[in-house]
Amino acid sequence: MKIGIEKIGFYTPHLYVDMNKLAVKRNVEPEKFTIGIGQEKMAIPPITQDSVTLAANAAFEIVDEKDKEAIDLCIFGTESGIDHSKSAGIYVHHLLGLNPHARAIEVKQACYGATAAIQMAKGHIALNPTKKVLVLGSDIARYGLNTSGEATQGAGAVALVISADPKILELEEQSAYLTSDIMDFWRPVYSDKAFVDGKYSNEQYILFFSKIWEAYKEKTGLELKDLEAICFHLPYTKMGLKALRTILDEGTEEDKERLLENYKISTTYNRNVGNIYTGSLYLSLLSLLEQKGDLKEGSRIGLFSYGSGAVGEFFTGILQPNYREYLRVDQHAELFSSRTEVTVEEYEKVFQETLPTDGSTIEFDIDKDPAKICLSGMTDNMRQYVNKMN
Ligand code: HMG
Repeated sequence: MKIGIEKIGFYTPHLYVDMNKLAVKRNVEPEKFTIGIGQEKMAIPPITQDSVTLAANAAFEIVDEKDKEAIDLCIFGTESGIDHSKSAGIYVHHLLGLNPHARAIEVKQACYGATAAIQMAKGHIALNPTKKVLVLGSDIARYGLNTSGEATQGAGAVALVISADPKILELEEQSAYLTSDIMDFWRPVYSDKAFVDGKYSNEQYILFFSKIWEAYKEKTGLELKDLEAICFHLPYTKMGLKALRTILDEGTEEDKERLLENYKISTTYNRNVGNIYTGSLYLSLLSLLEQKGDLKEGSRIGLFSYGSGAVGEFFTGILQPNYREYLRVDQHAELFSSRTEVTVEEYEKVFQETLPTDGSTIEFDIDKDPAKICLSGMTDNMRQYVNKMN
């Protein structure tokens, strides 16, 4: 039985800041952000978007009535959860009108969460081949104003329908993974910003990649020549390139050229959004599939997932016949082109807006946010959500 990705949805907020302008305000050379880090634009979530609404907007564009009948499990991978107890998946379950007899849960392991969800979904479909699983990866990356992590913030979500009818990418069975207890990046429950040991996190990302890649080759006997492209978790677009470069000498000149060219294409969306944590790897996959017109059916794509703390995994998928028909290239082009640029001062103001923590009521003007699904306010410590399409 084939199991894999049937549909991919994506959402990012309608505001962004230009990295050149952020660099000028922070007194660094713009090339540090655009070349050294490899980011052009950074998505800014208004107060009316949180991890729930971002995920719901990403899923709303792909989940149809037939999917709603078949989805019996919704797994929400996030590290920007809004509640220590209740799963973010339940809010999305309601906002999308999923089948009441579908389960909804949340999973966490930094940026690895959505990959964990996909692996669980594969097992679920193997046992229940007529069912589908909705996997969500949604996050807001926050390090703080004027911090060294600031240039690697972002916001967005990816939604994936996993089924036994993988119209886009069949996920292959073999994968290699690694867990090690390290403190490269973490966010204690009392903080709304991440703590990070930046240089150490980069080193660990590369170390995980090299150990996992060796384990993967040993397990499968596959080599660089067998991969059309490798997509990476992209905290910033230079990071995957640093990892890719460590293995390029294993291939021929042709392998090098192909993998470097495809890597560049796979960073297109991420370069304009920033880090979206759990969704980043799948946003990179989406960039590759939607921006490279001539990727052949049957090609094998490698995927490297890394979640600080840390868990990493390397796995692969095979592109399916006519996969392009199931992509939403025009809708995503429109999503990017309709965004509004904000100044650095406006971004700083939005960044510092917070929700009440004393139980008071607040209402937001959701007409200012073009998203279909928004956070409309708070009352009695409960977030209020609106799906404008209902
Ligand atoms: P930094 O220390 O400010 O930057 O922070 P830097 O001094 O290392 O410079 C960055 C690069 O720009 C360097 O290139 C410079 O040479 C270059 P590299 O040596 O790395 O190739 N540079 C220039 N290039 C061109 N023209 C110039 C110029 N000036 C400098 N004029 C850092 C960078 C990424 C450490 C920081 O932003 C940070 O801490 N970010 C957050 C942590 C992070 O993203 N880590 C990545 C690995 S961990 C991960 O992926 C997991 C994560 O997603 C979380 C999760 O799992 O939940 C983060």
